[in-house]
Amino acid sequence: MKGKVYFVGAGPGDPELLTLKAKRVLEQADVIVFADSLVNPEVLKFAKKGAEVYGSSSLSLEEIAKIVLGAIERGKLVARLQSGDPSVYGALWEQTKVLEENGVEYEIVPGVSSLFAACASLKVELTVPGISQTVILSRRAGNAPVPRSEDLRSLASHRATMAIFLSISQIEEVVEELLEGGYPPETPVAVVYKASWEDEKVIEGNLEEVVPKVRESGIERQALILVGEALKPGEKGKRSKLYGRKR
Ligand SMILES: C[S@@+](CC[C@H](N)C(=O)[O-])C[C@H]1O[C@@H](n2cnc3c(N)ncnc32)[C@H](O)[C@@H]1O
Repeated sequence: MKGKVYFVGAGPGDPELLTLKAKRVLEQADVIVFADSLVNPEVLKFAKKGAEVYGSSSLSLEEIAKIVLGAIERGKLVARLQSGDPSVYGALWEQTKVLEENGVEYEIVPGVSSLFAACASLKVELTVPGISQTVILSRRAGNAPVPRSEDLRSLASHRATMAIFLSISQIEEVVEELLEGGYPPETPVAVVYKASWEDEKVIEGNLEEVVPKVRESGIERQALILVGEALKPGEKGKRSKLYGRKR
């Protein structure tokens, strides 16, 4: 029997936000390697009895590859559970590369990104006509470098809606660069910690006031920073043509 690897988007936290396909793969998987620092362990309730489960947060890429390739050699079905959607800061490319080099069949099951769970909690649209029709997903440099051309200052000059991942511990620098880049101090900001989890927290304000609010909250990880006027469109929002009068 030939094994196969599924990279599965496990969603932002709430197990009800797993897709039906993700749930089916989980139910069938013999080996599950899951991002235990971000994925809600509750989703493992869908795993079949006897499935081998590994948390990936303490494993290197080589160790993960060893587990996955070993399972494939045994003809097993492997679910590599990743938080949100695997295509967003999912270290996906380096993992699929190993599989391609070893001729292993794989498939990617998309998931609900934490970005969309955060928007649902905030009840906002990222793309409000008359304000912004562009969404920039970015981060500050941390474990991974960020190309100079993508520094937050230059991205801020567009004044588009921005979602900043993996950077809450650097909130001072983020805000400083966004202001230097061109967002006015009164630009709305929201920080969503553990979107869709039971202990989710939301902080709302503007660029001028958000830093002390975040520091007081003690939030240092697993949070998204959303910025832009689309968060509070007020009178500037324009109707789209989507629901215009039909002839
Ligand atoms: C390695 S990235 C993974 C992102 C994931 N692939 C996604 O689509 O949401 C981890 C970062 O995503 C964000 N994140 C992940 N889960 C989150 C959640 N439930 N609520 C808020 N932010 C979250 C945080 O910025 C965190 O530092």
